Amino acid sequence: MNKKIFIASDHAGYKMKTKLNDHFTCFIDLGTNSIDSVDYPDFAHKLTNEVLNNDESLGILICGTGVGMSIAANRSKGIRAGLVNSVEVARLIRQHNDANVLVIPGRFMDSEEAINCVKAFIETQFESGRHKQRVEKI
Ligand code: RB5
Repeated sequence: MNKKIFIASDHAGYKMKTKLNDHFTCFIDLGTNSIDSVDYPDFAHKLTNEVLNNDESLGILICGTGVGMSIAANRSKGIRAGLVNSVEVARLIRQHNDANVLVIPGRFMDSEEAINCVKAFIETQFESGRHKQRVEKI
């Protein structure tokens, strides 16, 4: 895969991040690197800066609920972060919203489903068409 994919989590998402890294092996890991308590916005901002500075790149963020990471990531202009609860939603946030960041609720999703969500997210293209003007209005 040519496009860069960044991944980051807080302590609550650390275990899930490890499982995703073990499975995919190609992500650029921006931390955190242990289960020691950290502040999720620090990692959200670190990752969104990389996504904005690398054309066509994607990001994956994980915290406990996924909500804190979503709120923090979506403060950056040009970032469209989507919190997912299923593979179908992971696919739709690419097709309809041109999401460039996938957010996973590390404490509320099992790792098999998270792997399938990540797969769907990175393999799906934006449909453009009627969705283009909606994304532009954001
Ligand atoms: C950490 O305990 C937890 O608050 C954080 O991971 C996240 O769920 C915040 O939205």
